[in-house]
Amino acid sequence: MDRIRIVGGNKLNGTIPISGAKNAALPLMIASLLTDETLILENVPRLADVAQLQRILGNHGVDIMAAGKRPGDHEYQGQTLHISAANIIDTTAPYELVSRMRASFWVIAPLLARMHEAKVSLPGGCAIGTRPVDLLIEALEKLGADITIDGGYVIARAPGGLKGAEIDFPKVTVSGTHVALMAATLAKGTTVITNAACEPEVLDVADCLNKMGARVSGAGTPRIVVEGVTKLHGARHTVLPDRIETGTYAMAVAMTGGDVQLNGARPELLQAALDVLTEAGAEISVNNEGIRVTRNGAGIRPVNVSTSPFPGFPTDLQAQFMALMTRAGGASHITETIFENRFMHVQELARFGARIHLDGETAIVEGIETLRGAPVMATDLRASVSLVIAALAAEGETMVNRVYHLDRGFERLEDKLSACGATIERLSG
Ligand code: UD1
Repeated sequence: MDRIRIVGGNKLNGTIPISGAKNAALPLMIASLLTDETLILENVPRLADVAQLQRILGNHGVDIMAAGKRPGDHEYQGQTLHISAANIIDTTAPYELVSRMRASFWVIAPLLARMHEAKVSLPGGCAIGTRPVDLLIEALEKLGADITIDGGYVIARAPGGLKGAEIDFPKVTVSGTHVALMAATLAKGTTVITNAACEPEVLDVADCLNKMGARVSGAGTPRIVVEGVTKLHGARHTVLPDRIETGTYAMAVAMTGGDVQLNGARPELLQAALDVLTEAGAEISVNNEGIRVTRNGAGIRPVNVSTSPFPGFPTDLQAQFMALMTRAGGASHITETIFENRFMHVQELARFGARIHLDGETAIVEGIETLRGAPVMATDLRASVSLVIAALAAEGETMVNRVYHLDRGFERLEDKLSACGATIERLSG
């Protein structure tokens, strides 16, 4: 299994291109199952999760062609996928494929909407809490699906097709919103989703669905209205930039000091995180190309943060921010409200010498002057990258083991960081 070796202490200086958002690319690819025409997705990041979803869609009979580079394309430019679900040959998503990535469970929605049946294994994914799918199942039942769970599989049927309904989520759920939205596009009548997730990736998917002929309004707000249509068609859509990747590199620069331009980043996608970074002592400026992050001279100030659904501070940046706070000039409180058990990085950050004390859903971080490199192991996607951030500022060498989690969500991480002066390399095997 690959490892990443980092020798800390260098400031980051240069330019980092921001890739397309993983959390939009995955549901957009899944939305291709809603139509027998070709969906063309541009700016799709080259990630292990994207490759895994290609295998899952392939199993349903979907043809995916990755277009070659065009003249003038930058080496970092995302790939263009031509996705055609003209013939769905299998409505089962098997355990071997779905257990590796939680989002693949979402194929249940378009399969049910278009084929009126689906059999999908209960999901796996990052080990960050129990992450049930009860709200997704309830939403599909409201839309008229008959659902049973048998042998680890969710079996859903809607012989006469789905019917519009009122879906009021008891808690904000991104997965629930994606599933309800996709399923409702082909349901008979109107669906109203309330307490919907407002994450930018939901809006991106809704925009794409509308290009495909769906009638969705209100996406990006807590109330989404979907007027069902009988058929969707092909479309071309560009995946929005990854706000979590943006925030991660912004935190890396705040950690090491330096001056980095994040090209293609859009500040409105992560304003809460940028505000927190400013409070912590980073300087953030917005320009035509994206966002510039600097920290020169000033130390890192402690800031208290609580995660919340968009537009709040994202849970997917909590681990990275905790890494930053390990070197702050004082104590900070970091509260995780979205996922229980999303503090797996705490014990690994402690290997660098970090002082973190857990009190229920809050981590109290006592900043220290110097972290020291250590062998560490990644347990989930965002936790892994928090270890990279700590390592970039630690004295001496760090070996990050089990980096496949990083490959799931960060495109060419070591290339992007070494181009800015970090000493970081991948060791194969
Ligand atoms: C998505 C993101 C993930 C991010 C999370 C929260 C993707 C591929 N993943 O995950 O990176 O951390 O949003 O912003 O987009 N819940 C239930 N029952 C359900 C569904 C969810 O109780 O049926 C709970 C979860 O356990 C969690 C909370 O609701 O506590 C939010 O989960 P959700 O927003 O659905 O997260 P994901 O869509 O899985």
